[in-house]
Amino acid sequence: MLSVTDFIASLPKAELHIHIEGSLEPEMMFALAQRNGVSLPYDSVEAIRAAYSFSNLQDFLDLYYQGMSVLREEQDFYDLTRAYLSRVAADGVKHVEVFFDPQAHTARGVAFETVLDGIHRALADGERQLGITAKLILCFLRHLPAEDALVTLEQAMDHRDRIVGVGLDSSENGYPPELFVEVFAKARAAGFRAVAHAGEEGPPAYVRGALEALQVDRIDHGNRALEDEALVAELAERQMPLTVCPLSNLRLCGVTDMKKHPLKTMLDKGLFVTLNSDDPSYFGGYVNDNYRAVQQALGLSDAVLAEIARNSFAASFLDDEAKAARIAEVDAYVNGG
Ligand code: HPA
Ligand code: ZN
Repeated sequence: MLSVTDFIASLPKAELHIHIEGSLEPEMMFALAQRNGVSLPYDSVEAIRAAYSFSNLQDFLDLYYQGMSVLREEQDFYDLTRAYLSRVAADGVKHVEVFFDPQAHTARGVAFETVLDGIHRALADGERQLGITAKLILCFLRHLPAEDALVTLEQAMDHRDRIVGVGLDSSENGYPPELFVEVFAKARAAGFRAVAHAGEEGPPAYVRGALEALQVDRIDHGNRALEDEALVAELAERQMPLTVCPLSNLRLCGVTDMKKHPLKTMLDKGLFVTLNSDDPSYFGGYVNDNYRAVQQALGLSDAVLAEIARNSFAASFLDDEAKAARIAEVDAYVNGG
């Protein structure tokens, strides 16, 4: 009989909510700053880590955008992504759907293709070398005008073979999903899948907006949906996947104590949840740290953890055959195979 920590360690799983720029560890940030001659307002790796204390989403985003200023060359995006894949290979991760924020790079004069080529080359190497399958999701920055998102979508149109979907991230409050109806409609018409951050800090109406106005396939976070009973019933009825990120919620003060995390309530209400790291370098843990944190705080059984792992594949953009094969791996693992 495995201890629950050992059970989580090798449980086959997918990660569906990871901002690749949020996997930039302080050591790599420091090294890339030197490699590229970028100055940082820190004189050591320890000073960078010490700065990671946030009261809300915006506090974090300010450091997140500052940190990614060291990413300039294709090789930087490759190194970042390849390091993330090596790290999660050790967590039993078999499939990842990675967010990237091209507007945060093109605004600094880094070409869209530089970003995409570096990330994609690492994902291809990771698949060959580590056996981790991967898909890429382009996120629009919601604090920027919708016209900017349309320009970014145009840039993505030539790369539909390497980008599976579009998402919506950055500062939530004050930037409702409805602002992005046109760009999401165009993206979906072009064959992109759609996801959006909603209900991380924003109200339940933003979750409803993501469902109705943006027609998303998954909701990223979704915590505040719990404030609206009718919305919860609809999410449960549709089995709409939520990509929940417990350590992120704790670090951004969406929850004050992991024991009060809404995951248990979500499960009890029949919602379709997955567990993810969001920005692992900034929030103190990778995907297995998130599984362990909620297991310890909420006392989840192995059976529930396995169900969440099955959900992670079922909610992915893998084809049905690949989903079934990965879910069978979870079943075999649970049965001691
Ligand atoms: N929320 C919104 N936008 C983001 C996040 C997040 O947690 N991480 C990176 N961009
Ligand atoms: Zn996120």
